[in-house]
Amino acid sequence: MRTVYLNGEYVAENAAKVSVFDRGFTFADAIYEVTAVLQGKLLDFDLHAARLRRSLKEIAIALPIDDEALHAIHQQLIARNELYEGLIYLQVTRGVEDRSFAMPAPEVTPTLVLYTQQKHIVASPLAQQGMKIISLPDLRWGRCDIKTTQLLYACLAKEQARQQGADDAWLLKEGLITEGTSNNAFIVTAEGAVVTRELSRLLLPGITRGSLIKLIHEQGMRLEERSFTLEEVKNAAEAFITSSTSFVYPVINVDGAAVGDGKPGPLTQHIRQLYIDRAMALTA
Ligand code: PDD
Repeated sequence: MRTVYLNGEYVAENAAKVSVFDRGFTFADAIYEVTAVLQGKLLDFDLHAARLRRSLKEIAIALPIDDEALHAIHQQLIARNELYEGLIYLQVTRGVEDRSFAMPAPEVTPTLVLYTQQKHIVASPLAQQGMKIISLPDLRWGRCDIKTTQLLYACLAKEQARQQGADDAWLLKEGLITEGTSNNAFIVTAEGAVVTRELSRLLLPGITRGSLIKLIHEQGMRLEERSFTLEEVKNAAEAFITSSTSFVYPVINVDGAAVGDGKPGPLTQHIRQLYIDRAMALTA
C-alpha cells in the first residue's frame, strides 16, 4: 500500500481522507502538478514548482509552504514508496468550508495532497506503436494556461477517442489545434520544421514542451511556434505529443487517416531519444 501526503502527514492511502466540503470536491477549485520520476529522481522539479506558483497566483490561492518543503515531500514519497519510474501527483485546493460560491474566510487553509504512481515512461508501448488521435472541438474554459483540476471535458474527449478506437483527442478552436486533452501537440512539416502552437490562455505551458523547444534549438533544428490547422496535421510528415508522463509519443493517425506513412516518424523518434538522454542525464 502506498503512503500518501495529506496536510502535513504521511498516511496510508486508505486512511487519506478529505472533507466532502472541500472546494476541490465541490467546485474543482484546485490546482495540480504532475512531475515525472525517473531513476528514482525528480525531473525538472524547479520548473513544475514555478508553474504551480503561477497557477496558484492566477486563482489567488495562498499556499503556506515553500518550494524547499515541497521538494522534501516529493523526496519522502519517492523514498517511502520506493518509486523508480512514474510520477508524483500534487493537488492544492482552496480548502474546506460549507458550500458557497463566495470565496472562503481568510483563515481557511488550502488542502495539500501528494501521491505517487508507477508508470513505464521510457519503455512505453505507445512510444513504440504511436498514437491514434481524433479531432474534437475545444469546449474547455478560457484559461487553459492555468493547471486546474477541472478536467471533465478532457475525460469526456478521451472517452470519445477510446470509443472510436483511438488513443486520444486533439482539440480545435476556430479551426486551429490548441493542444491534446492532456498533452501539447506538435507536427513536423514536409520541409522538416517542428511546429507547435504559441503560448496563450488557450493551452497549458507544458514543461516538456518548453524543455523540448530548448533542446530543439540547441540541436540547430528548425522550430516554429505558431498555430496550425487540422489540414496541416493531415498533410504533416510526422506528428507527436509531449507531456511529463509520456515525454514524446509519436502520433501516427488522425481521424482515421495516416500521418506521413502511418508509422512513428524518424525525426519524432530522434527527438524522443534526445529528450530521454537529457532526462536520464538530469536524473543520473
Ligand atoms: N497533463 N496540456 C494539458 C492540457 C495537460 O494536461 C498537460 C499535462 C500538458 C503537458 O504538460 P507537461 O509537459 O507539463 O506535463 C499539456 C498531465 C501530465 C496530467 O494531467 O496528467
